[in-house]
Amino acid sequence: MEDKYIIILLLIVFLIIYGCWWYKKNSNQSLDDYYKTINKFPSGFKGEGYSQQIIEQSKFLKNITNNKDIKNVMEIGFNGGHSAEIFLSSNKNINMVSFDIGEHDYVKLGKHFIDKTYPGRHQLIIGDSLKTVPEYYKTVNKKFDLIFIDGGHDYHTAKYDLINCKNLCHDKTIVIMDDTIYNKDEWIMDWNTGPIQAWNEAKESGMIRELGHENYAPGRGQSWGNYNII
Ligand SMILES: C[S@@+](CC[C@H](N)C(=O)[O-])C[C@H]1O[C@@H](n2cnc3c(N)ncnc32)[C@H](O)[C@@H]1O
Repeated sequence: MEDKYIIILLLIVFLIIYGCWWYKKNSNQSLDDYYKTINKFPSGFKGEGYSQQIIEQSKFLKNITNNKDIKNVMEIGFNGGHSAEIFLSSNKNINMVSFDIGEHDYVKLGKHFIDKTYPGRHQLIIGDSLKTVPEYYKTVNKKFDLIFIDGGHDYHTAKYDLINCKNLCHDKTIVIMDDTIYNKDEWIMDWNTGPIQAWNEAKESGMIRELGHENYAPGRGQSWGNYNII
């Protein structure tokens, strides 16, 4: 064989091997790896608090999503995309809608990663959830199987996020309110008081039937339940 054909052949083999290596590297990349690769958070994510910081909470969210009855997931509070990554990676059959006010510049980077890694499975709606969630349920006829509320943590926003999400539920929908703490006052931080009050009032009024709650660390916990749909 002529030398030039041998060189072309070797070049093709090299490109195939390099392509496979590149694909494997990128298809296994986590969101945190991606932030490091693009030099946004080279020494670890430094944005607002997020679910993957707490291993037990991440496990809980993975387990609850990895169920054949969970097909449509919604969250309020996309932030850097860490909870969306947990949901989408835990169950390849789910689709997801996230609502976020978009105040952090890294939201669009997280969205880019989620779209690249889970193509066609995620929608992000930017804006204040107190407006965007009602706009959504008035125009889209959809019910979610799992809803994670982790957006604005002031009492008013937590309360109306919980109330508004009822319009997107069926009787088996599991709603999770992030950042509640139970019977451990020394663990309550300023971002907990709104979600705790909103969740307790929803239980007392009969809107929510609680299924469980967990405290994980100072300032970190969650509660979950079903809406009473009559
Ligand atoms: C604690 S972070 C969410 C963390 C994320 N769920 C995770 O675990 O990876 C809260 C997010 O909600 C957003 N947010 C705050 N107020 C909001 C509002 N009124 N409507 C929608 N998003 C809001 C914040 O900008 C932030 O991105």
